[in-house]
Amino acid sequence: MSNESPKMWSGRFREPLDRTFEQWQRSFPFDWRLLPQEVAASQAHAHTIAAASILTPEELEKMLRGLEAVGLRTSNWAHRISATSGEPDYETSTQQVGAAIVASAPQAEDIHHYVELELTREVGGLALKLHTGRSRNEQIATDMRLFVRDAIDATLAGLQAWLAALLTLAETSGTAVMPSYTHLQRAEPVLVAHWLLAYVSMLERDFSRFTDARTRMNFCPLGSGAVAGATLALDRSIAAKALGFTAPTPNSMDATSDRDFMLDFAQAASTLGIHISRFAEELTLYATAEFGFVDLPEAYSTGSSAMPQKKNPDLTELARGKSARLLGAATSLATLIKGLPLAYNKDLQEGQEQIFDVADTLRGLLSVLPGFTRSLKFRFERMESAAQTGYLNAMAAATYLSNKGVPFRKAHEIIGNAVRLGLDKGLELNALPLAELQALSEHFAEDFYAAISLRATLDCHDVTGGTATSRVAQALSEAKRRVAALPPAEAAHG
Ligand code: ARG
Repeated sequence: MSNESPKMWSGRFREPLDRTFEQWQRSFPFDWRLLPQEVAASQAHAHTIAAASILTPEELEKMLRGLEAVGLRTSNWAHRISATSGEPDYETSTQQVGAAIVASAPQAEDIHHYVELELTREVGGLALKLHTGRSRNEQIATDMRLFVRDAIDATLAGLQAWLAALLTLAETSGTAVMPSYTHLQRAEPVLVAHWLLAYVSMLERDFSRFTDARTRMNFCPLGSGAVAGATLALDRSIAAKALGFTAPTPNSMDATSDRDFMLDFAQAASTLGIHISRFAEELTLYATAEFGFVDLPEAYSTGSSAMPQKKNPDLTELARGKSARLLGAATSLATLIKGLPLAYNKDLQEGQEQIFDVADTLRGLLSVLPGFTRSLKFRFERMESAAQTGYLNAMAAATYLSNKGVPFRKAHEIIGNAVRLGLDKGLELNALPLAELQALSEHFAEDFYAAISLRATLDCHDVTGGTATSRVAQALSEAKRRVAALPPAEAAHG
């Protein structure tokens, strides 16, 4: 260990660390991303210890300014990088800023050590007072909560944008019709808007899952010390308030080792990922020549280097694939946490990268899905003709008979026979002559044909949540009202 950069814990050690181990156990190569959170939490802690008379008002001022200068360094790196390489995308610039910061401080063990070293450069020996009454165990717990809270807010904003795009698409689909499927076999006709509103329902639940997770996690670990609570009588409400938390956490052992908030976030992200993946899967299928329901927007597709005719659904395939990372992260975190004795264990350091990956993956997905959704062009005529072939009106036909007093079980049997007849003759139900139908049941009459028309087949589903035209119009306007009333992400909980 070199002299000019002592560790935060070197006093009791006489032997230097094994070089390879030292590098291997460092978290700075990834936890540099917590710089804004570490600076904010450190400033909040500075206020707390100043209130306990550990810092004079002048020292507090100096400390706050020094921390701000350390924090500004990230944006300076970002600025320098975009000045030299134009406007890199989010991921490239994150990687470049990270590489620059990490290379600038090869001696930093983790983000806490880095800020202390940098703060020493800014304000000299005063920097060493900042650690009074705190531990890295509460710091990392606080930084991660702040990071997850921001990531949730970004996700909520992204979900709102995607919801708005789905609602617009549902609205512009009007009364267009498509087949619905069960077992991936044609089932009954539905409105295209009804199908899209199914995804709106899923995303509304996702929104509420992230919102719940945010409410549950919004408590401040600062003041929990290493495990048993700070060794000074600190007013923990000062930092909690400064950082926008609802209150201080109630138990120091839990607060320093709890990562449920990360798990909640990753699990909510997994469920969202599953919904994204289902949407992506359907669009991938519907864009095949076999279905031909949708024209993939060129702006979101790629070609093949080998086959000149190809237009490939890379966006939906990647979206489907990325959900695997989200599920993987949730599984990793659950496995990481499940065997840990109270309280802090270094294993927990391993959870950070999972969360960064979840946040980045969600940010990426939600950056493309709204635009992709808005630019989808459906082939309504193909959807409608698919909805009119394959006896999708058979249930409406059975309902017709049951309305005539035939018990449904019997009606089902009779229509089954009619379908069999149609299959043998190569005719849909509405093309079967009345006389042949009447040979199957005396209850068939001329009004049968109107009862199994496409519109009648839709409109007989006249229940809340059903696909009758008027019900879907109502469902759409209710969904629009609910989505418009969702709280703007940052203001959601204050
Ligand atoms: N880098 C560490 C982590 O992420 C910070 C906490 C270290 N605490 C400790 N007792 N070694 O978990």
